[in-house]
Amino acid sequence: MKNNPLPRLDEDLVLREQLLPFCRLKPGEVWEDPTGRHRVACADATNSEQISRLIGEDRPVLAIQDPPYNLVAFDLRNIDTFIEWCADWVRMSARFLSSDASFYVWLGADQNQHFQPLPQFMMMMQQTGLFESRSFVTMRNQRGYGTQKNWMAVRQELLYYTRGNPFFEVQYTDIPKILRGYYKNINGKKTENLERGRSENIRPGNVWVDIQQVFYRMEENVSGCYAQKPIKSVERILQASSQQDDFVLDLFAHSGTTLIACEQLGRRCLTADLDPIFCEISIRRLEHFRATGKSGWQNGHPFEDIPDLNPQTVSEG
Ligand SMILES: C[S@@+](CC[C@H](N)C(=O)[O-])C[C@H]1O[C@@H](n2cnc3c(N)ncnc32)[C@H](O)[C@@H]1O
Repeated sequence: MKNNPLPRLDEDLVLREQLLPFCRLKPGEVWEDPTGRHRVACADATNSEQISRLIGEDRPVLAIQDPPYNLVAFDLRNIDTFIEWCADWVRMSARFLSSDASFYVWLGADQNQHFQPLPQFMMMMQQTGLFESRSFVTMRNQRGYGTQKNWMAVRQELLYYTRGNPFFEVQYTDIPKILRGYYKNINGKKTENLERGRSENIRPGNVWVDIQQVFYRMEENVSGCYAQKPIKSVERILQASSQQDDFVLDLFAHSGTTLIACEQLGRRCLTADLDPIFCEISIRRLEHFRATGKSGWQNGHPFEDIPDLNPQTVSEG
């Protein structure tokens, strides 16, 4: 395994200066996938001119948004300012989604700050009235924090909203059903729950315990990124809430997880990031996947072709 990780690319200013000349997109520009399947924009999620250039006439049926969470790991803004900013990209999503659409948002909750911004975000969604609430999913991370004097924090929140009557297909995990004995009479025959279900396996429901958090030993790892979601989690959303060749919107691309999952499952991704470096990483990740079949660089990195990179900060791996 390579041992050549990059530090957080939003923080290492010297490394950023070295990488920026290699970024294909400048603010406001859109990369068109040569195969015509996807587009990546260097765009601000709240800038309607830039986002309409990304989306054009297409109407995504699904949005998967993963904004910075207003937690310590991200830049901390006043909560009201943060929520107003969220309302802007929620409206932007609503403007471009089809009339029957699903809207997912990954969000954190700061347990030391009255769980902000989760409750404020939920209230804002109710007030804007653009989407109906459908589910509050929790994904369990393997690594957590605060284990000695508190319950270890291992949750990752995912809110699911809809408008109209969008597609939804029930999903199953790889976990076999283990409980027996829910007997029911069906047409005069006593049946047991394992016979009645559509699958031998359990559904994820709204608590997902079967998804491995990304870390440096996994093929999908993209070092330099600090907030990468597991591909499996995005695949689950895509399979539940979209169909082949549907357009999917992600305004916060970062490592390009939604883009890669769309490529793998035959969906078409329209994605943006404010930072030209994360746009370039997303494009390179797609190209790397098409060339090698690999979904990331494990403990290598996306800019290995550039000689003499000189990170000033040390990566945690
Ligand atoms: C939490 S990360 C998204 C992680 C992504 N789901 C993944 O799996 O890699 C948030 C991203 O939003 C980008 N971002 C922050 N503000 C933005 C804005 N106003 N418009 C678009 N992107 C923004 C950041 O540069 C960062 O890459």
